[in-house]
Parts: sequence; C-alpha cells; structure tokens
Amino acid sequence: MTIAKKDLFDFDTLLKRRGTASLKWEKYKARDIIPLWVADMDFRSPPAVIEALHQLVDYGVFGYTITPDELNEAVMAMLESKYAWKVKPEWLVWLPGLVTGLNVACRAVGEDGDDVMTAVPVYPPFLSAPGYSRRNIIKVELHERNNQWRFDFDRLEDSITSTTKLLLFCNPHNPVGRVFNAEELATLAAICQKYGIVICSDEIHCDLILDRQKKHIPTATLNPDAAARTITLMSPSKTFNLPGLSCSFAVIPEKKLRQSFKKVMQGIVPRVNAAGYAAARVAFTECAQWHAGLLEYLRGNLSIVQQAIYQIPNLSMAPVEATYLAWIDMRATGVNNPAAFLEDAGVGLQDGIEFDAPGFVRLNFGCPRSLLQKALDRMNAAMAKDR
Ligand SMILES: Cc1ncc(COP(=O)(O)O)c(C=O)c1O
Repeated sequence: MTIAKKDLFDFDTLLKRRGTASLKWEKYKARDIIPLWVADMDFRSPPAVIEALHQLVDYGVFGYTITPDELNEAVMAMLESKYAWKVKPEWLVWLPGLVTGLNVACRAVGEDGDDVMTAVPVYPPFLSAPGYSRRNIIKVELHERNNQWRFDFDRLEDSITSTTKLLLFCNPHNPVGRVFNAEELATLAAICQKYGIVICSDEIHCDLILDRQKKHIPTATLNPDAAARTITLMSPSKTFNLPGLSCSFAVIPEKKLRQSFKKVMQGIVPRVNAAGYAAARVAFTECAQWHAGLLEYLRGNLSIVQQAIYQIPNLSMAPVEATYLAWIDMRATGVNNPAAFLEDAGVGLQDGIEFDAPGFVRLNFGCPRSLLQKALDRMNAAMAKDR
C-alpha cells in the first residue's frame, strides 16, 4: 500500500507521558532515564480510534457491554482476507488481555501437576503462567545460529514427558523477533500432533511484520489437525497501541477445548469494556493507512537501532523480522548486570533475566526517532567509557 502523504501520520512528536500514570514512564519517575522497556509505543493511537472513543464519551453511557456483532464480523473478515482463514463467530472468545488467555489456557488443558512446554527466551508471562496454574514448566532453549534464532526440534522432542499437555508458543516471537516460517511451524505442529499436545499460539505481534520477505502464518491455518489443537491469541493492542484498553480475543475452533477454556474463565475473567470494543472495531476496519505508516516508521527506527548496535563493540543482535523489540546480546561486554549498567547511563531497557536469558536486554524502538537516537547515543557513550 502507498501512503498518500509522507507525513500523513505523526510519529515524530514527543508526547509528554510523565505524570500520566503510564507504567512505562512512571518506572523512572523523576529520574533522567529514557524508558524503552515494556511493549507500549510512545505514539498516539490512530485518529479514527480516537474519534470512535470521542463518540463513546459523548454518548456518555457506559453500561455492561456484549461483543458487538460488527466486531466479530470485522475480525472474521480480517482473518479471511489476511490468511484465508474462515473463522466462525462462535470460535471467538473475547478476553480482557492476552496474558489472561495464556493463564486460562494453562488451566484449561490437562490437570494439576502436568507439564507445560515453552521455548526460551520468552515474554515473562509465559514463564509464570504454568506455575500460577499449578503446572510445571519445561523450558527448551531457542538457539541463535547464523544470526537467526531457531528451534532445536530434536531437543524439544526429547524434552516432552508423558504429562506434557500444552505448548505455549509465541509467533512472531517476543523477544527474538522471529516470524517462524511454514516449515518450522509444520514441524512444531507435527510434534504436537504426535504427542497429543495442545498449542496455545500467542500471535499478538502478527501485524508488526517488519521484514518484507516474511509473512505471518497463523498456526491454526496449517492443517485441520493444527486447527483443532490450537488456541490462537490475538489483539489489536500492540499494533494500534491500545494495550491500556484491555481488548483481545482467542480463536478456538475445537468445541471441547473451547468449552474447557470458557469454563475456566467463569466468574473470574471480566467482560471486555465498551471502550476496548469500540477501539478494536475501528482499528480492524479503518486504520490500514495508519498501520502502513507505522510499519514504515518502525522499519526506519529498526535500521537506526541496528546501525548503532553493530557499531558498539561486543554488542550484537539478530535481524528483527517482526515486533518493535530488539533483543540485544551484551554477554561479550563482560558487564555484570547490563540492564542496571544502562539505567545508570540513562536508558531503561528490559532485563534479559526476566526472559530467562541473563546478559541480554530488550529495547523497545516504538518511539519517536529523536528519543530513540538519544537513548542509543547514551548507550554508545556508556559502552565507550567502559572500554
Ligand atoms: C507475546 C505477548 N503476549 C502478550 C502480551 C500482553 O498482552 P496483554 O496486554 O493483552 O495481556 C505481550 C505484551 O507485550 C506480548 O508481547
């Protein structure tokens, strides 16, 4: 898609987020630390989303809200047009968060004491959800080979136990930025089929594909068996910067699995709120140009991050195929606690320890370029001083 005007949307303006109860910015309240940690972008949401929320506020009635039919239709149309995935409305289960979905999936599959498998490093709630759900976690390491993070499928298969019932899978992957290809997905799905493992496929970053050669493939679209054993989790929240509006959904084609999932939710998981629904509907139907503009901007930011990181001795990162997150390896620097070291230098990144990978940091480049450049300059200066 071509964007009519180069500056149709403004991703350059520095927003004042301090003092707005922002999780990202309040962490470093009153400290000169640029927060590039949690996955929320320093951009205003698309104008059409803001307009829809204005309309809701002007109406002024905020009663309990059921899922609007138009939203289910918008999601079904979106999945069909992007992935040729024909989804029935009853397969959609709306959730106030994807992390909720990960935890519900852990409780909905298997029994207390069963094993849940995941590949590390990974987004921290993947690591905590099994334990919160009285399951054991089995961690299988992803490997970086030839500058690309990959599964070791033999190792993964060897780690499966007789009580492994669920795989928590992240694609596109946070934090390593991979968009797993058809072959990798087919291998993973075949292993899960062989051992009767349910797949919970977190695809929250699927609309943030930065590498033009890559294409997102929902795990459930691989074949009928994969469709039946997969709980897909999706949301407009990362793409359209709506994480505070708590609106996401699961797609669960298989009836029994869907019933188990819904049963676990009963009485615990609240409804999605009216603002989340309103924003989601418009995000999925009216924001294609904003989305295209965002991807262009993020690609520009990624290239600045890559250039900066490649120039700093002993820092490395594999290409980011998707997400606005760079996964930086600082193990060769000899710095003991890289996240703390960089905080002292005025840059707040997320510590790899939280992802089960000490020595790494995760940098969120979803911010105005001037702020990103300032943070990278600070990193460069701190590393130069350390040499
Ligand atoms: C892979 C992944 N899943 C889930 C989430 C969070 O989802 P939610 O805010 O809807 O709970 C994130 C946020 O960064 C994420 O990266």
